[in-house]
Amino acid sequence: MAPIVLRTVAEVKSWAAAHHREGRRIALVPTMGYLHEGHLSLMREGRRRADVVATSIFVNPTQFGPNEDLSRYPRDFDGDLGRCASAGVEAVFAPEPGEMYPPGYQTYVEVTDVSQGLCGARRPGHFRGVATIVARLFTLFRPQVALFGEKDYQQLQVIKALNRDLYLDVDIVGMPTVREADGLAMSSRNAYLSAEQRQRALALSRGLRAAQALYASGTHEAPALVEAVRRELRAADLREDYVEVMDAERLVPLSTVAPGQAARVLVAAFSGATRLIDNMPLGG
Ligand code: PAJ
Repeated sequence: MAPIVLRTVAEVKSWAAAHHREGRRIALVPTMGYLHEGHLSLMREGRRRADVVATSIFVNPTQFGPNEDLSRYPRDFDGDLGRCASAGVEAVFAPEPGEMYPPGYQTYVEVTDVSQGLCGARRPGHFRGVATIVARLFTLFRPQVALFGEKDYQQLQVIKALNRDLYLDVDIVGMPTVREADGLAMSSRNAYLSAEQRQRALALSRGLRAAQALYASGTHEAPALVEAVRRELRAADLREDYVEVMDAERLVPLSTVAPGQAARVLVAAFSGATRLIDNMPLGG
């Protein structure tokens, strides 16, 4: 069945209140649209964990920097509605920017420590925008469960901290990265890539797998693991933004992965003008 489309804050409040009154559990999947299998995997898991699933489709201006791709971010609203229907989504919240940020809007949420490195260091203000919109979506929907992808690993840690620190009491579920058959992590931004740039972009997942293999063979020093990723980026002529080995929860850089420690290797690189990110687990 086609989902109902909610356009205003008032509509979300009454939709959510009706479900809460009936004692139904709500799962929320926030997105920026141009949906792919990665997004749909979150929605399907939401169906398993709750009675109704809502998704938001909103290209949130406050999480984009001045020279980023806000104005050309890919959109396909009608196609997205069909994809939501196939994944069992009951309601889609798709507000205009002015609905979320009316004149006089002035409240922002900042998560400090885990926002600082990686993408937070390269995209100033990005996680402030993410934390702000997610906190407000949680306030509006009051979901029992919300699902996010490990593809955006730092974002997932920011949202866990936000949820904990503001006592929001949402069950935050992190879901594995969905990949194309050749290993490329699915992303709405893959639409920007030419065939040649897409081919070169495979170096991100190839490099991460090389680091995983090196780790499995007993090399636990971060510089060697980082170099395994860099080697693939160089071979594909990709410009590195960062490659780091970090503690999987605190997201602090490690020089060595200690025995039993859950760590993550994370990469950001440009294929042409398109910035891509990916990450994989090490140990734990
Ligand atoms: P967006 O990039 O549309 O992603 C929405 C959700 O889908 C995020 O939780 C993201 O991690 C997840 N996702 C994206 N690609 C994935 C993949 N290949 N496998 C699994 N999950 C994947 O992330 C955002 O939007 C925004 O920052 C948002 C949280 C909606 C706030 O505006």
